[in-house]
This record gives sequence, structure tokens and C-alpha cells, in this order.
Amino acid sequence: MTVTAVVGAQWGDEAKGKFVDVLAQDADIVARFNGGDNAGHTVINAYGTFKVRLTPNGFSNPKTACVIGPGVVVNLSTLIEERVSIEGKGIDLAERLWVSPRCHVVMPYHPMLEEIYEQAKGKSKTGTTRRGMGPVYADKVSYNGIRLFDLGDEATFVEKLRVQLSVKNRIFETFGLQSLDFDAVLSEKLEQFLQVRQFVREPFGMVQEALADHATIVLEAAQGALLDNNWGTYPFCTASVTLAGGAAAGLGVPPTLIENILGVAKAYTTRVGGGPMPTELFDQTGEHLTNAGAEFGTVTGRARRCGWFDAELVRFTAQLNGLTGVALTKLDVLDELPEIKICTGYRKKNSQRVHHYWEGDSYWLAEVEPVYIEMGGWGSSTRDVREFDRLPTQARAYVRKIEALIGVPVIYISVGPERDAVIKL
Ligand code: GDP
Ligand code: IMO
Ligand code: MG
Repeated sequence: MTVTAVVGAQWGDEAKGKFVDVLAQDADIVARFNGGDNAGHTVINAYGTFKVRLTPNGFSNPKTACVIGPGVVVNLSTLIEERVSIEGKGIDLAERLWVSPRCHVVMPYHPMLEEIYEQAKGKSKTGTTRRGMGPVYADKVSYNGIRLFDLGDEATFVEKLRVQLSVKNRIFETFGLQSLDFDAVLSEKLEQFLQVRQFVREPFGMVQEALADHATIVLEAAQGALLDNNWGTYPFCTASVTLAGGAAAGLGVPPTLIENILGVAKAYTTRVGGGPMPTELFDQTGEHLTNAGAEFGTVTGRARRCGWFDAELVRFTAQLNGLTGVALTKLDVLDELPEIKICTGYRKKNSQRVHHYWEGDSYWLAEVEPVYIEMGGWGSSTRDVREFDRLPTQARAYVRKIEALIGVPVIYISVGPERDAVIKL
């Protein structure tokens, strides 16, 4: 009987999918409210291993409604692929999936436009997932988007597509790219829409009724707070609002009803793509974290950049989101390290003053040096531990130190990718 938002407290890939799957066991509704198929949420449970990009992670519980709210942008091919793969495991989505017709649709020209900008930026590129997120949200806010509502009405779709292609094709021609054929795009999207039409229905009324009935609702964020369009490391960020506050707007639930805000944070730091990362390691320890943590992107397969836990960042994202608890994940990845560092703030070169993340922008953050404290490692496996008191002393000390530095209680510790590899505090 609660509404819980599950949000990424770092740069994404914190294991939000796993914790949404854990909480979904008791949930009436699981809803996505931001991003699109740039997300890649891994779930390992009795049905197998899933790496879902759009479908809310309540699909494994037959009693849970899975809702895609209007803040999400929908790539129809991905939605269709996921439906086939999930239903292929014997999970029926027919009555349970709700996709708001207000969702904007990723069109074939969005990744093309993104590629043009990424190439033009050269080495300062954002390093996106190439799913067209920037351009689709740009079209949305500039009134040039095409929504599922529009695909449901052919005349409207024809008119909007004509306008968009008349502009976008000129850009492609300028850059020497093949322009898009109106009829081909039209028929492809209409055909894809037919395959998902049964799910396209506004969830607002159903969600309101569930709220009135004190249902258990889990709001599943994509990406992480440091990729947020307002507060992240702009322009090395994503196009949507990744914060708990984004759930209110992106699904349509009053902010006053979100009682729990679970921040998911790795016990170290990773990021994919470009942009500053003060605690990034370029040595053997960094390599060890990449390999031990299997840190390769779920969507793109790129190796994730790895470094020490940055408590300055997570304290900031805890304040920004109003976190009520933290799930500290992948603690087991640190098992073999002889010593572990935690960043507590930043210094500029030749200065003693300790600075906060929010004082500067991305370019400023790229120049600062992290201030570290050092702790001893624990040198034994935590993979089979299920009670806090049974963790090695140094591991407990590490968790307690993080808690003190970020100012939020750690309420779950994850020590392996499986659903049951969780210590509850
Ligand atoms: P999300 O985008 O936040 O849902 O996270 P991803 O699924 O992209 O990345 C998290 C990765 O870590 C996945 O491969 C998970 O299976 C894996 N994982 C989750 N929790 C743990 C853990 O506690 N330990 C280890 N070793 N792996 C984990
Ligand atoms: P989940 O939900 C990690 C990163 C990209 C790039 C930047 C912009 O799995 O945690 P975009 O394609 O969104 O325009 O890329 O954001 N990025 C993610 N990094 N996890 C994600 O999602 C991400 N979604 C986007 O790597 O740096
Ligand atoms: Mg991911």
C-alpha cells in the first residue's frame, strides 16, 4: 500500500531493473516514466535473464500491470521485440501492458539526426546510445513530435509526417545522406502500430483508481540522476528527467503521494559515454572493476568506465531526489580489493578548498581532483551472504561509512545479480 520510486543515484546501470523486479513481487503496478530504449535493465529471475529497454519490470508478476507513462518515448520496433521475447517465455502481457497514447514515437529520422550531431562534435560528442533520444525529445518540446495518438489516426499521421520529412530530408540531403521515403516510413509505422494497438490506452484513470485503493505502485526510472537533463553533467547527459520528481510529471501521479524514494547506487562508480567522472580509474584496479563487475553496456556493449565510489555525487543526488533509502549494489565486485577509496569532495588544482558537484558545470568537473578517504578491503567473498551481520567487518564498515557520507540509510545491499542476492537491513 505504498508508492515507491526507484531511481538511479549515479550515471545509470546501478541495477535499478533488479530492484524493481524485487519490489514488483508485491506490486499492483510498475510504471516507467522517462527515457526510452536507451535504458537497459537486467533482470534475472525464475523466467530467465532479461535485458529490457522499454517494458516495465513488473512483467514477471502475473498480477502486476505494466504501465508506460507519457514521459517515455517509444521505439515501436523495440516494444514489439520485447513483447515477443517476454511472451516467448510464457508470460502473458495482453491484459497487463498499458502504453499511454501521449507517448512520443521514435521515428527513423531521430537516430539519423543524432548521428549528424555526434559526428559534427567529434571528440566532444556525448557518446549516446544512438537511440535518437536527444532528437525525439527535442521534437517533443518544440511541438514537432509524433505521438501514439497520431499513429491511431492515419490522416493526422500523414499530415505530421509530411511536415517533418519536408524539413528533415533537406537536412539529410545537405549532409549527403539518403533522404527518407514518405510511403516507406508511413507504412512501416502504421504496420508496427497495429501490432501494439491493443496496449495503447491511457493509464491515467486506472492509476488514479489504484491510488484511491491504496495500491502498491513502483515507479521505475531509467538512467541516473547524473544523466538528468537539468542536473546531470550537461551536455554529457540524457534528454529526459531521470529524478523522482520526473515520475510525477512523466506518469501523472501527484508528488505528494510518492512516499518512498529508493536510490540505487553501485558500491563503486561507472559511466558509459563521454563526460567528466572525477573518480575514474585508468589503472589495474579500474580494469579489475570492469571485469569483475562485467561492466559492459546492456544496450551498446561498450565497456563502462569504472572508478571509486563518489560520496560527493551520491550525497548530491540523494538531496536532489529526497531519497528515503539506498540500495547499495554490486558490493561483491569489491571483494578482492586490498584497499578501497571513497571520494568525499573535490579540490581544484593548487587550492585547499573542498568543492561540491553543484558548484560548477561539466567542464569544471573535468578539472577537479577528488579528495579521498581510504579503507581496508575484506578479501573474502560476500556472494553468499544474506544477513548484514555476516558480512566481513571491513565490508560492514564500508557500508556504514557510505551511509554516513551520503546521509541516507542503506536499506538493501546487493551481492550478486540474481533476485535473491540481497541483504535487507
Ligand atoms: P540498470 O540499468 O540500473 O537496471 O542496470 P543494468 O542492468 O544496466 O546493469 C546492472 C548489471 O549488474 C546487470 O548486468 C546486473 O545483472 C548486474 N548486477 C546487479 N546487481 C548485482 C550485484 O549485486 N552484483 C553483481 N556482481 N552484479 C549485479
Ligand atoms: P539505464 O536505464 C547508462 C548515457 C549514454 C550517454 C548519455 C546520453 O540502463 O541506467 P542517450 O542515448 O540517452 O542520448 O545518451 O547517457 N545513457 C546511459 N548510461 N545507463 C543508461 O540507462 C543510459 N541511458 C543513457 O551512454 O552517455
Ligand atoms: Mg542499464
